[in-house]
Amino acid sequence: MPSVFDVLHTTQKQIQNDLAEVLQIFELPEPLQRAVHHSVMLGGKRIRPALCYAVAKITTPNMHWSAVRRAAVAVELIHCYSLVHDDLPCMDNDALRRGQPTCHIAFGEDTALLAGDVLQSMAYEVLTSQIFDEDASALSETIALKQVRLLAQASSAMVSGQVLDLQAEGMCIDQQMLEKIHKNKTGALIQAAVEMSAVTQLESSSQQMQALKTFAQAIGLAFQVQDDILDITAETAVLGKTAGKDVQVDKSTYPALMGLEPAQQYATQLHEQALSALEIFGNSVQDLHAITQFLWQRQN
Ligand code: IPE
Ligand code: IPE
Ligand code: MG
Ligand code: MG
Ligand code: MG
Repeated sequence: MPSVFDVLHTTQKQIQNDLAEVLQIFELPEPLQRAVHHSVMLGGKRIRPALCYAVAKITTPNMHWSAVRRAAVAVELIHCYSLVHDDLPCMDNDALRRGQPTCHIAFGEDTALLAGDVLQSMAYEVLTSQIFDEDASALSETIALKQVRLLAQASSAMVSGQVLDLQAEGMCIDQQMLEKIHKNKTGALIQAAVEMSAVTQLESSSQQMQALKTFAQAIGLAFQVQDDILDITAETAVLGKTAGKDVQVDKSTYPALMGLEPAQQYATQLHEQALSALEIFGNSVQDLHAITQFLWQRQN
């Protein structure tokens, strides 16, 4: 099995280069350009792009590698936009992100709001462009259309989840409602990363696609359960964002609902579910295994 270090190192290099190339193409006025650069290029685990690349390896070579690269960039841009807006004073009001001042602290609320807006448009422009195509005729419009739809649906689910998350502050909600919030605000975009890559080679009705969806749903929910746990157990310096914020504002989280240890057990259970969904693939999904192991043990 490849080490998670190898998988993430390769991902980081690929996505960092691709994002830099994309940002260079968009000629944004200052201070928007710097705000976008700040929000996209500085740090981040790049888990969603890593999932895109790992899924693409189910068959090698993937005949639509440029469409996978565009998907990785697009989903990361939407993710970065979601973080910029999530941190705004009218939302979670956070000052630290990826170990840096949040976008609105560095550039002001007006520019942060607009940086989030433009990141969204950029994502869809990238998906429907021919960037990364070696051969100008390589763009598959059918694949691009499916990817746009998947990303738009997930992005809108993310916004719905964020609304419910804000409404649930200080409230006593049940597990069913909390699961709905987490699946929407975080799970949907993680699932989109997997599916936007999968549609480059699999039919939506195939058994493999169904297995990948089950996998993605499990790690998507697990990811936010872990995020809730780390808010309590990790240090600000390691987390790169202010630890203990959820308790401070009485957010509805898994540790708050069920206690820290049961939440940790639940996260483990979800990771196991994710791994068992991959069984039908045999050895062709080693990178997905490595990423799942990493997510299980992540410290930030
Ligand atoms: C943080 O996501 C926000 C959530 C959806 C929980 P990540 O933990 O993937 O953030 P970065 O991209 O690594 O900073
Ligand atoms: C993030 O949830 C969900 C998003 C859509 C960005 P959180 O509010 O818990 O994420 P962090 O902890 O600020 O990264
Ligand atoms: Mg939030
Ligand atoms: Mg937040
Ligand atoms: Mg959080």
